[in-house]
Amino acid sequence: MEKTNILVTGGAGFIGSHLVDALVERGHRVRILDSLVSQVHENGIPEHLNPRAEFIQGDVCDRAVVERALDGVEAIFHEAAEVGVGQSMYEVDRYVRANDLGTAVLLESVIKRQPKIKKLIVASSMSIYGEGAYRCASCGTVNPQLRDDAQLRERRWEMECPTCKAPLSPSGTTEDKPLFPTSVYAITKQDQEQFCLVLGRAYGIPTVALRYFNVYGTRQALSNPYTGVCAIFSSRLLNDQRPLIFEDGEQTRDFVHVSDIIQANLLALETDRANYLPVNVGTGVATSIREVTALLSEGLGKKLEPEIVGKYREGDIRHCVADISRARNLLGYEPRVKLEAGIPELLTWVREQSPKDDVARATAELETRQLVR
Ligand code: UD1
Repeated sequence: MEKTNILVTGGAGFIGSHLVDALVERGHRVRILDSLVSQVHENGIPEHLNPRAEFIQGDVCDRAVVERALDGVEAIFHEAAEVGVGQSMYEVDRYVRANDLGTAVLLESVIKRQPKIKKLIVASSMSIYGEGAYRCASCGTVNPQLRDDAQLRERRWEMECPTCKAPLSPSGTTEDKPLFPTSVYAITKQDQEQFCLVLGRAYGIPTVALRYFNVYGTRQALSNPYTGVCAIFSSRLLNDQRPLIFEDGEQTRDFVHVSDIIQANLLALETDRANYLPVNVGTGVATSIREVTALLSEGLGKKLEPEIVGKYREGDIRHCVADISRARNLLGYEPRVKLEAGIPELLTWVREQSPKDDVARATAELETRQLVR
């Protein structure tokens, strides 16, 4: 592909920084716009910030900074966002501002830019689906909403058919499943995706929304208790603390290695076949939280049994695994890193870090608000 001037918002972050490296590697001219949120970047500029990219420290809500960051840019990866699901349920203003307003400010500049931006790729999330898709033996495919509180209070964790109450089995979630975001974070991700797709189409700016599933890998903010379960449990184990498992640990997710997320982004830049569409980026493989915990503790050589706390988090889904047919067919995407290989690679890096374990405080904060019960 010809060398392009590219802006990566959130380019100092976990996914953004890997993306910057890959783009620089391919000879593109890359500019980063990142505000270095202190919850993620406790020590300021991270070591992994690519010195071959231009760095602007600034807020995506700041119109003047965004204008400057867009100068001469031909393609944009919009990765900047506040990412704590639980935290978004009480720091509503902060999440809506960064994610909704930030995207709005960016888009206002993007749509008036001449020559037109050639590609806009926005980081969306599986969180916008709510529960994944399921199959009922008698009713066929069903798209249930969250389990109700009465069911959860009885600690009946598995999904039941909304029509006949029979047990459901998870099936691959396709992009056309109805969206039921269950947190403020998820609503803002849906907004980001739709703002970009709708304006992209209206102004003829080729736009792709990549719906990331549960991403893990090096550079994930280990001390940030609001990131995903792999980072949280690695940091617990490293501090000789037992991982705390909600529900019964049999809930499943589609864990996708960050390098596969980067692969999908590069393909979305290079091909026009996914323009104006949302595309799932996962692996199509479901893994239970217990299995992940076992891989992590084994890998770190810690004989610490997880503690099954039996409580549940408000808004948590039971199962969601990606159907990746669209990514395969339109992008030519194929996940390359299996969890058995990805976790050891993550742990090699984790061992060099000294994360502080802040999970107890973060969980207490959720419990005080009845968001874990
Ligand atoms: C959520 C978001 C997703 C986001 C991710 C990381 C939804 C539906 N999805 O995913 O977009 O990328 O957060 O920010 O909102 N768990 C424990 N103990 C812990 C932490 C988690 O048992 O200390 C369990 C959770 O209850 C859940 C599973 O692990 O069942 C996965 O949790 P998490 O990694 O937070 O991701 P999601 O909730 O799937």
